[in-house]
This record gives sequence, C-alpha cells and structure tokens, in this order.
Amino acid sequence: LAAGIGALLSTTAMADGLVVGFSQIGSESGWRAAETSVTKQEAEKRGVDLKFADAQQKQENQIKALRGFIAQGVDAILIAPVVATGWDEVLGEAKDAGIPVVLLDRGIDASQDLYLTSVASDQVKEGAVAAQWLVDTVGDKPCTIVELEGTVGSSPAINRKKGFDDTIAAHANFTISRSQTGEFTRSKGKEVMEGFIKAEDGGKNICAVYAHNDDMMVGAIQAMKDAGLKPGTDILTVSIDAVPDIFSAMAAGDANATVELTPNMAGPAFDALEAFLKDGTVPEKFIITESKLYTQADDPAGEAERRKSLGY
Ligand code: AHR
Repeated sequence: LAAGIGALLSTTAMADGLVVGFSQIGSESGWRAAETSVTKQEAEKRGVDLKFADAQQKQENQIKALRGFIAQGVDAILIAPVVATGWDEVLGEAKDAGIPVVLLDRGIDASQDLYLTSVASDQVKEGAVAAQWLVDTVGDKPCTIVELEGTVGSSPAINRKKGFDDTIAAHANFTISRSQTGEFTRSKGKEVMEGFIKAEDGGKNICAVYAHNDDMMVGAIQAMKDAGLKPGTDILTVSIDAVPDIFSAMAAGDANATVELTPNMAGPAFDALEAFLKDGTVPEKFIITESKLYTQADDPAGEAERRKSLGY
C-alpha cells in the first residue's frame, strides 16, 4: 500500500489543499464531541478540506460514507471505527482506489496493510492503569466491583475490559460482581447503574465502579446520588477519558480517578498523512497516545477549566 500510494500521490506535497474524508462514529460522549471539534480545528489550521460524516453509531453508515469518499476521489480517509470487525471489504476498496486510510482512536481486526496507520491509545493499558489505581487505593480489604462496559464489539470495550480484569484477577480480595454495557453514554450508564444498585442490596455491597468512559460514570454518579449513596466516598469510582465533567465531579468529591485519552488524534494523523503524501514516508503502524492517571490530588478544578479552554 505504502509504495503504491506514495508513488501515486507524491505530487500532492502539502496538507494545504488536501481533501480528507472523516467518518466519525457519532456523538455518544463528551470525549467524542471533543475529538470531532479538535479534528475540525486541526483541519482548518492546516488548510485541509475536511468532509465530515456522522455515522450515528452505525457501521453500515460508516461503510456508506467510505464508499462516498472513494467515489469523490478524496486524498485520504480518517475513520473512527465503531466496532472492530467487518471492515475488510470496504478498506480493500479504498486500497484499490489508492486512498490511504488512517484509523482514529479504535482498532480493527483486519489485515494491517489495509490501513496506513492507526492513532490510538493502548486500551489494554488504560484498563490496567485504572485497575492498578483501585488495587493501590483499596489494599487488602475485600472489594466488590461493578463494571460499565462500552459499546459491544468496539475495541475499547474489549480491551479496557481485558486490561482491567487481568490486573484485578491477580488480587484475591477483588471480585467483579456485575458487568454490563452502558454503550458509552451518560443515560445508559445511569440506567445500568440503577440496576446494579438494586441487585447489590441498595449499593451496600458495592465497593467500586469501573466505567469504560467518563460519561457512563457521570450517569452512574447520578444513580448513586439518587439512591442516597455518596459516590467517591461510599463507592469508589475510576473511569477513562479525562473530560471536563469528570474533573468537575472529582473536584466536588463525587469521583476519584480517571485515565486520560487525548481527543487530539487528528494532529498525529495529519502529520503522518502529510509526510506520506509528500514523499512516501511510511509512519509507524501504531501511533500510541499517552494513558495518564488523574486523581483528586491533581487539581481537578483546574484540569476541568484547562480542558474547557481547549474546546474539549
Ligand atoms: O474510542 C474511544 C472511546 O469512545 C472513548 O473513551 C469514549 O468516550 C468514546 O465514546
């Protein structure tokens, strides 16, 4: 793929003037909205004509959008793939058309030569970082955890569960009693947490909640409060994303920890595309972003403000 497209597009030297299709998943979370806005800002800054398509959580819409981009003859495609499987055919079509594809924030189960590069976090590590914080915080006491999973079949739901579960499994005092999808949304996170609380004796048995993203945790915090529980004190919380709302909850004492996922996947993606389209420079296959842990000790009010000022 690299050699072919490099030769084909070597005359398109600069990002300025590039036409790039972006198939976004939807707007399920604050993090997703931030990624959309950062991608648009990055494109504007670089003079890229970004063709944006919102798939409303449906893989079929993403496949349709990709086929539309291919028919238009875009210079490159960015895609945040909603689920991990089912991409071979359409990515094969992009490859045959000589259009480089960059995956953003989620992985796929497909041959690596179907895409130029992937800009994403190490999602297994994110789960492990979250679990390790809980292990360090709880120590040897018995602890029953409930888990809110992301979109079924998505790479972050699969990998964040694996990283967390594997780390927890090494500590006999921890049990994951319930695990269910909250679809990465605030409303579903709240609904599922209400069910967990009912099933766990009004929440008395729950020591901690692990959510695969902050939005589900914000919903779960509301469910705990509605049930007369004190999130962050009676029940520990740890989630992933580091969006402003979880920092506000941490500042109020309602949440304990989050693992940061930068919404700026587009910066490294455009850098890789610019270099590739200029002279065929092949990027690393996996460009991995940082997974930093934040707790209540890390100036959560300031972090919330800082992120809001960046448009997150
Ligand atoms: O793929 C990244 C995940 O998707 C984010 O953690 C979550 O908030 C989003 O919906």
